[in-house]
Amino acid sequence: QGPRIVVTRTMPEPAIAMLREIGDVWVSDVNRPLSAQELHDAAVGAHALVTMLHDRIDTAVLTAAGKSLRVVANVAVGHDNVVDSHALAARGVALTNTPGVLTDATADLTMGLILMATRRLGEGERLLRAGTPWSFHLGFMLGPGLQGKTLGIVGLGQIGRAVAQRARAFGMHVAYTGRSPATCANEVDVQYMPLHEMLTTADVISLHCPLTPATWHLIDANALALMKPTAFLVNTSRGPVVDESALAEALQNRTIAGAALDVFEKEPEVEPRLLDLDNAVVAPHLGSATVETRTAMALLAARNVVSVLSGDGPITPVTLQARHG
Ligand code: GLV
Ligand code: GLV
Repeated sequence: QGPRIVVTRTMPEPAIAMLREIGDVWVSDVNRPLSAQELHDAAVGAHALVTMLHDRIDTAVLTAAGKSLRVVANVAVGHDNVVDSHALAARGVALTNTPGVLTDATADLTMGLILMATRRLGEGERLLRAGTPWSFHLGFMLGPGLQGKTLGIVGLGQIGRAVAQRARAFGMHVAYTGRSPATCANEVDVQYMPLHEMLTTADVISLHCPLTPATWHLIDANALALMKPTAFLVNTSRGPVVDESALAEALQNRTIAGAALDVFEKEPEVEPRLLDLDNAVVAPHLGSATVETRTAMALLAARNVVSVLSGDGPITPVTLQARHG
């Protein structure tokens, strides 16, 4: 009998097959996230947990797994769902994520959301589907062009840099902010700008930071109030980086021009006011949702499990420092 490998939600078959070669694999067969109790029960005696971003991995889950647990492989680049990282470290349990393989997919989606928000694509589609009479005219459904406008990137990690490159191809000026000026900024030729200045000057602000205690509600009512009335906010990072209620208020009052959200504070719930606002674009967490990327994410998580259980250590470990931002 091999090690017990628990997979909390269905994954692409090649990744499951890789795990079956080295252990006894349990895969959830329900088409929804496991409840806390189900997760707890499934974890008992596990050597490896392959988890999704909606699984809350806390001390209770670690305790349920017990001494056998060697690795938690989160199938996401974000790992804020793993809430008790000190307990993991103290137990010698490796935590891994899936950086790199979802960079292009997420950056592509970000550009899609920027275009949807500025060019009013969702609003236009709703108009057609509602059967509303319309005709082309020179003032019909206008939005701002991107050329010569400033994109402010919050968090210049791999995804932020990939967005910067795309935005430059669209003719945008790109600035970034983060905990500190990034050494990689030269690679993509973007300028550091303090958040306060970015909020007051950027035409589009796009969030690419991890969710940590330092970035929770980074974009709150005060931050939104600093943004230009013509500015747009795009979030493909984690919902709680934005105070969703304050955002709905700002969109309703048109103190900013629009927003596009791929992630939500209480996912899968969406602040109901957003759904009634024409200047809000909403998507169901699709940043990494390409066929190629999702398979690559699952395979990378599986390779991490195989590597840890065979004694070679994690391939893409999350460091304690990264866990706390
Ligand atoms: C998706 O949101 C991820 O963190 O990979
Ligand atoms: C618009 O459709 C144009 O032809 O300019």
